[in-house]
Amino acid sequence: MSVDRFSRARRRDRQVYLVGRPVIFPLLAAVRRFPAIRVGSRMVINDPDLVRTVLTEVPLDRTSAGTMGGSVRKHHGTGGIFDESGADHRASKRALAARLDSTGVAALRPFWQPAIADMTDRLAAGRTVDMCRFADELAGRTTAALLGVDVPSPRWCVDLAVAARRTAALSAAEEIPSPRRLLRRNGFVDHLDDLLGEHADPLSKVLALATINTTVAAIPRAVAWCADADLWADAADEAIRSRLVTELLRVTAPTPLLPRVAAEDAMVGGRPVRRGDQLLLMVLHAARSRERGPDPRNPAPVREANLVFGAGARACPGARLAREQLGDVLAAVAPYRPAVMRARAERGGALPSWAQLTVRARGDA
Ligand code: HEM
Repeated sequence: MSVDRFSRARRRDRQVYLVGRPVIFPLLAAVRRFPAIRVGSRMVINDPDLVRTVLTEVPLDRTSAGTMGGSVRKHHGTGGIFDESGADHRASKRALAARLDSTGVAALRPFWQPAIADMTDRLAAGRTVDMCRFADELAGRTTAALLGVDVPSPRWCVDLAVAARRTAALSAAEEIPSPRRLLRRNGFVDHLDDLLGEHADPLSKVLALATINTTVAAIPRAVAWCADADLWADAADEAIRSRLVTELLRVTAPTPLLPRVAAEDAMVGGRPVRRGDQLLLMVLHAARSRERGPDPRNPAPVREANLVFGAGARACPGARLAREQLGDVLAAVAPYRPAVMRARAERGGALPSWAQLTVRARGDA
């Protein structure tokens, strides 16, 4: 596949980084050719093998400020999996893996399908669809089912998604180096508490935050890629779709930057890392997202593609759910071959995302 085929999709997708975090992402892009490089007190790591090494071999501090675990513990209390280690973490991970295995995901599917059916009804009627509002509903429904919450109304699912996006944006401002960090230092608000009521325990809140924020980042971006690079024929093809999903997740790298903190002195790529140093793991660069387009017939090596879900004992337990859900969305949307009518990137969200992505079926679909 030629690079030109992807230039339009790439140009549009770049907006989510440039508008979302206009300082940090251009700075990090400038050093992306270095496998590992120290920038002030931080180490930026771009090489796939080094990112994997840090995730699997370097002792990491799961509770310090500047990490997801640190934010979880500070704002939601202990027991939110990201902040756990040792036997506690293994037990939580095992319990969660059982809820998100193939049986678990199959049990969740009926809860997210109605959102897809409503969305495709609109496309079939020639109406526009904002994929971001659709993703809010899809993620809200899935989360409610995962947490065992009785949904009071469809509107509640959207409200839950909005609350999770707002809450995560405030946490991320504390984890990722950014001028907003200074502005928001004392301004954290947990928007989930009221909505989740008796389900507002640390693990449930973390699951809501992880599920919703990744879904609303990943799905609209993947749809925009398919529309701009005309990948709808591959999306419609059942034999190819799952490889397309893997490639789209690699290219969009929905969690592009993992901030971690070293718990001990270590060497990374021949460079010393001191205990307490923040390590910025650039999944976006490690997965070669900017170098090779989504090509389901010649996909990137699995080792690189899988890095978007982390690695080792802490790898994402929601990967199967994320993959299957994106596959369902692409299969349902592909027959309409929609084009993007309007796109507006989210400013200062937890993850690079679209705030609005309006699509409409192509006239000839
Ligand atoms: C496209 C969607 C997703 C992406 C790209 C993604 C990515 C990641 C990454 C990179 C990590 C960190 C791994 C590490 O530190 O080594 C992670 C951890 C985690 N993810 Fe996901 N994730 C996604 C969807 C989900 C979903 C749908 C759920 C819940 C159902 C979920 C729940 C979690 C949890 C609980 C952890 C913490 C695991 C641990 O500390 O052991 N994720 N995810």
